Amino acid sequence: MTDPVDPPEPHAHHPAQPAFKVTPWEVKGKIDYDRLREQFGTSPVDAPLLARLERLLGSPLHPLLAREIYITHRDLPQVLDSYERGDPFFLYTGRGPSGDIHLAHLIPFELCAYLQRKLGVDLWIQVTDDEKFLFSGAGGRHDLTLADTYKLGRDNLLDLLTVGFDPKKTHILFDTVSIPTLYPLALEVAKRVTFSTAKAVFGFKNDNNIGSIFFTAIQSVPAFLPSARAHRPIPCLIPCGVDQDPHFRITRDVAEGLGYPKPALLHNRMLPGLLGDEKMSSSADRRDNAIFLSDSPKDVQRKISHAFTGGRATVEEQRRLGATPEVCSVWALWRSRFAPEAKEFEEITRTCRSGELLCGECKARLVPRVDAFLAQQKEKRAEVEKWIDSAIEGAPHK
Ligand code: TRP
Repeated sequence: MTDPVDPPEPHAHHPAQPAFKVTPWEVKGKIDYDRLREQFGTSPVDAPLLARLERLLGSPLHPLLAREIYITHRDLPQVLDSYERGDPFFLYTGRGPSGDIHLAHLIPFELCAYLQRKLGVDLWIQVTDDEKFLFSGAGGRHDLTLADTYKLGRDNLLDLLTVGFDPKKTHILFDTVSIPTLYPLALEVAKRVTFSTAKAVFGFKNDNNIGSIFFTAIQSVPAFLPSARAHRPIPCLIPCGVDQDPHFRITRDVAEGLGYPKPALLHNRMLPGLLGDEKMSSSADRRDNAIFLSDSPKDVQRKISHAFTGGRATVEEQRRLGATPEVCSVWALWRSRFAPEAKEFEEITRTCRSGELLCGECKARLVPRVDAFLAQQKEKRAEVEKWIDSAIEGAPHK
């Protein structure tokens, strides 16, 4: 069976529904995750699946799984079945280096580090400096040269790898550096994807540059490379933001024709921005929307104290009616990584909702946690420096 590669126009026939748009290069409007699941044709991460994951990975599950930040998947049970039959999968995730690393970027990497630690599986990381070069200048973003995206890519990796990987089981494909490895398989993919599919999936128009049209072939390659090298099918699991799903619908569509297994996917919801945006993003004019790994305690203090919350207009009202954690950018931070103990997270959520915990207190409690985390990650960069180049495919040092 093939996946539908042609997502319907968001809400074209449902004017009453709030419009939203989710593509790899643009997230617009308020995302309705149930509708997105219907549109994309993905499966929910539901209670039976979480129970199965808990049996496999141990209790308690990682907060990213237990707290429903990973919300949908494609074929995850198949990958678990084959793992349990003694046929391990590998993980694949990536980063498009268009700016500095912020907390949202860590999410798939943290999940991969956890799965690698628990299951001993290999991880392939793709750094798409080519993509961010080809797509820069679009959508009002400033132009990035290839030298910029290369430099950002290497610096981004230093931050991302601080979440803790096994250097012996971690492989990096840095597109412009690893291109001799990537190119033959990218051609195999590209030959099987028509222009009309690319237009339907990504909404390309006649004025898109031709590099951006080809690019998706490059992003498919890591899903197949380990199988190609081993001359046998090795299952692949891709943890990624839900916005990356369109690429992998294409990957999955061409997989069987190429003789490789379709990669499974596990999608996380977007971490909201501190200014109330749907997605924590790093555009130049909205830097306070995100917490960067390079932020100082002063930055953290400023950003969190101004952050958008689910609180009420007055203290009196909030005491009386309580606040709404689900819409709060500060609560999203507690949820994703700053309250790892379930007990504390539940206490924060409950007292927020009841009106006991006011936004000011909640923010004051979060600030030192974020500072401590950033300080610790900054220190770990030196450790990563030692092995990063030997992990990059095709780097001269290897
Ligand atoms: N296109 C992704 C981005 O812009 C980068 C990427 C490449 C990726 N391969 C991936 C992300 C696999 C997730 C999974 O960030």
